[in-house]
Amino acid sequence: MKYIIANWKSNKVLSDATDWVEKVGPQLTKNEEVTTIVCPPSLYLEEISKAVQVLGSDLKVGSQNISAFPFGSYTGEETAEMVKQFGDYSIVGHSERRKNFAETDEIVGDKVTRALEAGLIPIFCVQDEQTPIPEGVTIVAYEPVFAIGTGTPDTPQNANEVCMNIVSTHPDCVVLYGGSVTAENAKQFLAQEYISGLLIGKASLDPEEFVKIVEFA
Ligand code: PGA
Repeated sequence: MKYIIANWKSNKVLSDATDWVEKVGPQLTKNEEVTTIVCPPSLYLEEISKAVQVLGSDLKVGSQNISAFPFGSYTGEETAEMVKQFGDYSIVGHSERRKNFAETDEIVGDKVTRALEAGLIPIFCVQDEQTPIPEGVTIVAYEPVFAIGTGTPDTPQNANEVCMNIVSTHPDCVVLYGGSVTAENAKQFLAQEYISGLLIGKASLDPEEFVKIVEFA
Protein backbone atom coordinates (compact mmCIF):
# COMPACT_ATOMS: atom_id res chain seq x y z
CA MET A 1 0.00 0.00 0.00
CA LYS A 2 1.28 3.46 -0.96
CA TYR A 3 -0.05 6.65 0.65
CA ILE A 4 -0.14 9.87 -1.33
CA ILE A 5 -1.07 12.79 0.89
CA ALA A 6 -1.83 16.39 -0.07
CA ASN A 7 -0.98 18.88 2.67
CA TRP A 8 -2.35 22.23 1.53
CA LYS A 9 -1.08 24.06 4.63
CA SER A 10 -2.64 27.57 4.95
CA ASN A 11 -3.64 27.91 1.31
CA LYS A 12 -6.79 28.19 -0.86
CA VAL A 13 -10.12 29.90 -0.39
CA LEU A 14 -13.09 27.55 -0.20
CA SER A 15 -14.04 27.78 -3.89
CA ASP A 16 -10.48 26.80 -4.93
CA ALA A 17 -10.57 23.95 -2.43
CA THR A 18 -13.81 22.44 -3.78
CA ASP A 19 -12.62 23.07 -7.33
CA TRP A 20 -9.52 20.98 -6.57
CA VAL A 21 -11.66 18.10 -5.28
CA GLU A 22 -13.90 18.28 -8.34
CA LYS A 23 -10.84 18.04 -10.59
CA VAL A 24 -8.88 15.41 -8.65
CA GLY A 25 -11.73 13.25 -7.31
CA PRO A 26 -13.02 11.82 -10.59
CA GLN A 27 -9.47 11.05 -11.81
CA LEU A 28 -8.68 8.67 -8.99
CA THR A 29 -9.43 5.19 -10.14
CA LYS A 30 -10.35 2.65 -7.47
CA ASN A 31 -7.06 1.12 -6.46
CA GLU A 32 -6.38 -1.21 -3.56
CA GLU A 33 -2.69 -0.34 -3.72
CA VAL A 34 -2.91 3.42 -3.25
CA THR A 35 -4.59 5.52 -0.57
CA THR A 36 -4.94 9.16 -1.56
CA ILE A 37 -5.62 11.64 1.23
CA VAL A 38 -6.28 15.37 1.12
CA CYS A 39 -5.60 17.49 4.21
CA PRO A 40 -7.31 20.86 3.75
CA PRO A 41 -7.51 23.62 6.35
CA SER A 42 -9.89 22.38 9.09
CA LEU A 43 -12.41 25.09 8.25
CA TYR A 44 -13.07 23.31 4.93
CA LEU A 45 -13.21 19.72 6.19
CA GLU A 46 -17.01 19.47 6.12
CA GLU A 47 -17.35 20.96 2.64
CA ILE A 48 -14.51 18.82 1.28
CA SER A 49 -15.87 15.60 2.75
CA LYS A 50 -19.31 16.38 1.28
CA ALA A 51 -17.78 17.08 -2.13
CA VAL A 52 -15.89 13.76 -1.98
CA GLN A 53 -19.12 11.91 -1.11
CA VAL A 54 -21.10 13.57 -3.87
CA LEU A 55 -18.43 12.54 -6.37
CA GLY A 56 -18.30 9.02 -4.97
CA SER A 57 -14.54 9.46 -5.05
CA ASP A 58 -11.93 7.25 -3.44
CA LEU A 59 -10.25 10.32 -1.98
CA LYS A 60 -9.81 10.22 1.81
CA VAL A 61 -9.90 13.29 4.03
CA GLY A 62 -7.69 14.33 6.94
CA SER A 63 -6.80 17.40 8.96
CA GLN A 64 -3.43 19.11 9.19
CA ASN A 65 -3.62 19.38 12.94
CA ILE A 66 -5.77 18.55 15.96
CA SER A 67 -5.99 19.79 19.51
CA ALA A 68 -3.87 18.15 22.18
CA PHE A 69 -6.93 18.44 24.45
CA PRO A 70 -10.31 16.71 24.59
CA PHE A 71 -13.60 18.73 24.46
CA GLY A 72 -13.56 21.63 26.88
CA SER A 73 -12.57 25.23 27.45
CA TYR A 74 -9.81 25.51 24.85
CA THR A 75 -10.76 28.51 22.75
CA GLY A 76 -9.96 28.16 19.08
CA GLU A 77 -9.05 24.48 19.11
CA GLU A 78 -10.51 21.67 17.00
CA THR A 79 -10.60 18.32 18.75
CA ALA A 80 -9.94 14.94 17.21
CA GLU A 81 -13.65 14.07 17.64
CA MET A 82 -14.62 17.12 15.60
CA VAL A 83 -12.26 16.16 12.81
CA LYS A 84 -13.41 12.52 12.89
CA GLN A 85 -16.88 13.62 11.72
CA PHE A 86 -15.38 14.57 8.37
CA GLY A 87 -12.23 12.51 7.92
CA ASP A 88 -10.18 9.57 9.11
CA TYR A 89 -6.67 11.00 9.31
CA SER A 90 -4.74 13.83 10.92
CA ILE A 91 -1.21 15.03 10.35
CA VAL A 92 0.48 15.35 13.75
CA GLY A 93 3.80 16.93 14.65
CA HIS A 94 4.60 18.70 11.39
CA SER A 95 7.86 20.64 11.74
CA GLU A 96 6.06 23.88 10.86
CA ARG A 97 3.88 23.35 13.93
CA ARG A 98 6.87 22.50 16.08
CA LYS A 99 8.67 25.63 14.86
CA ASN A 100 5.87 28.23 14.63
CA PHE A 101 3.52 26.97 17.32
CA ALA A 102 6.03 25.65 19.84
CA GLU A 103 4.78 22.07 19.71
CA THR A 104 7.02 19.83 21.82
CA ASP A 105 7.40 16.04 21.81
CA GLU A 106 5.04 16.01 24.79
CA ILE A 107 2.36 18.03 23.00
CA VAL A 108 2.55 15.98 19.82
CA GLY A 109 2.41 12.83 21.96
CA ASP A 110 -0.85 14.11 23.49
CA LYS A 111 -2.19 14.79 20.01
CA VAL A 112 -1.46 11.21 18.98
CA THR A 113 -3.33 10.00 22.07
CA ARG A 114 -6.34 12.23 21.22
CA ALA A 115 -6.31 11.03 17.61
CA LEU A 116 -6.26 7.36 18.57
CA GLU A 117 -9.01 7.84 21.17
CA ALA A 118 -11.22 9.40 18.49
CA GLY A 119 -10.43 6.74 15.90
CA LEU A 120 -8.36 9.05 13.73
CA ILE A 121 -5.21 7.67 12.14
CA PRO A 122 -2.28 9.98 12.90
CA ILE A 123 0.21 10.72 10.14
CA PHE A 124 3.16 11.39 12.38
CA CYS A 125 5.94 13.64 11.07
CA VAL A 126 9.56 13.11 12.07
CA GLN A 127 12.60 15.12 11.06
CA ASP A 128 15.03 12.20 11.31
CA GLU A 129 15.51 8.87 13.05
CA GLN A 130 15.95 10.61 16.40
CA THR A 131 12.42 12.04 16.67
CA PRO A 132 10.54 9.93 19.25
CA ILE A 133 7.54 8.13 17.74
CA PRO A 134 4.63 7.68 20.16
CA GLU A 135 3.02 4.30 20.82
CA GLY A 136 0.14 3.49 18.47
CA VAL A 137 1.50 5.39 15.45
CA THR A 138 1.33 3.37 12.23
CA ILE A 139 1.99 6.01 9.56
CA VAL A 140 5.18 8.04 9.85
CA ALA A 141 6.32 10.77 7.46
CA TYR A 142 10.04 11.44 7.27
CA GLU A 143 10.30 15.15 6.51
CA PRO A 144 13.79 16.62 6.85
CA VAL A 145 13.53 20.34 7.64
CA PHE A 146 16.06 21.32 4.96
CA ALA A 147 13.76 19.85 2.30
CA ILE A 148 10.40 21.33 3.32
CA GLY A 149 9.28 24.05 0.95
CA THR A 150 12.86 24.70 -0.21
CA GLY A 151 12.89 23.07 -3.63
CA THR A 152 15.80 20.92 -2.39
CA PRO A 153 14.55 17.42 -1.59
CA ASP A 154 16.57 14.77 0.18
CA THR A 155 18.12 12.25 -2.17
CA PRO A 156 15.89 9.22 -2.76
CA GLN A 157 18.77 6.99 -1.54
CA ASN A 158 19.21 8.83 1.74
CA ALA A 159 15.46 9.11 2.29
CA ASN A 160 15.19 5.37 1.71
CA GLU A 161 17.92 4.69 4.26
CA VAL A 162 16.23 6.86 6.90
CA CYS A 163 12.87 5.20 6.20
CA MET A 164 14.53 1.78 6.47
CA ASN A 165 16.06 2.70 9.84
CA ILE A 166 12.68 3.88 11.13
CA VAL A 167 10.94 0.72 9.94
CA SER A 168 13.63 -1.44 11.54
CA THR A 169 13.00 0.13 14.96
CA HIS A 170 9.22 0.53 14.44
CA PRO A 171 8.12 -2.58 12.54
CA ASP A 172 4.41 -1.67 12.87
CA CYS A 173 4.93 1.55 10.90
CA VAL A 174 5.01 2.42 7.24
CA VAL A 175 7.18 5.43 6.44
CA LEU A 176 6.47 8.10 3.83
CA TYR A 177 8.80 10.78 2.51
CA GLY A 178 7.99 14.49 2.36
CA GLY A 179 9.90 17.63 1.38
CA SER A 180 9.98 19.30 -2.05
CA VAL A 181 8.33 16.37 -3.81
CA THR A 182 7.23 17.24 -7.35
CA ALA A 183 5.78 15.41 -10.34
CA GLU A 184 9.37 15.30 -11.66
CA ASN A 185 11.01 13.61 -8.68
CA ALA A 186 8.10 11.62 -7.19
CA LYS A 187 8.82 8.50 -9.23
CA GLN A 188 12.35 8.16 -7.83
CA PHE A 189 11.10 8.32 -4.25
CA LEU A 190 8.28 5.89 -4.91
CA ALA A 191 10.74 3.43 -6.44
CA GLN A 192 12.59 3.07 -3.11
CA GLU A 193 11.97 -0.10 -1.15
CA TYR A 194 11.25 1.49 2.23
CA ILE A 195 9.35 4.59 1.10
CA SER A 196 5.65 3.76 1.38
CA GLY A 197 4.31 7.01 0.00
CA LEU A 198 4.65 10.77 -0.12
CA LEU A 199 3.51 13.77 1.91
CA ILE A 200 3.29 16.65 -0.50
CA GLY A 201 2.95 20.36 0.23
CA LYS A 202 3.46 22.85 -2.59
CA ALA A 203 3.07 20.39 -5.47
CA SER A 204 -0.25 19.19 -4.05
CA LEU A 205 -1.87 22.59 -4.54
CA ASP A 206 -2.09 22.13 -8.28
CA PRO A 207 -4.66 19.43 -9.12
CA GLU A 208 -2.92 18.35 -12.36
CA GLU A 209 0.49 17.99 -10.73
CA PHE A 210 -1.01 16.10 -7.80
CA VAL A 211 -2.87 13.65 -10.05
CA LYS A 212 0.37 12.97 -11.96
CA ILE A 213 2.05 11.98 -8.69
CA VAL A 214 -0.86 9.72 -7.73
CA GLU A 215 -0.61 8.06 -11.14
CA PHE A 216 3.07 7.18 -10.54
CA ALA A 217 2.04 5.45 -7.32
P1 PGA B 1 6.64 20.74 0.45
O1 PGA B 1 6.02 20.44 1.89
O2 PGA B 1 6.22 19.61 -0.43
O3 PGA B 1 6.06 22.06 0.03
O4 PGA B 1 8.13 20.78 0.63
C1 PGA B 1 5.94 19.15 2.38
C2 PGA B 1 5.36 19.17 3.77
O5 PGA B 1 5.70 20.05 4.55
O6 PGA B 1 4.50 18.31 4.11
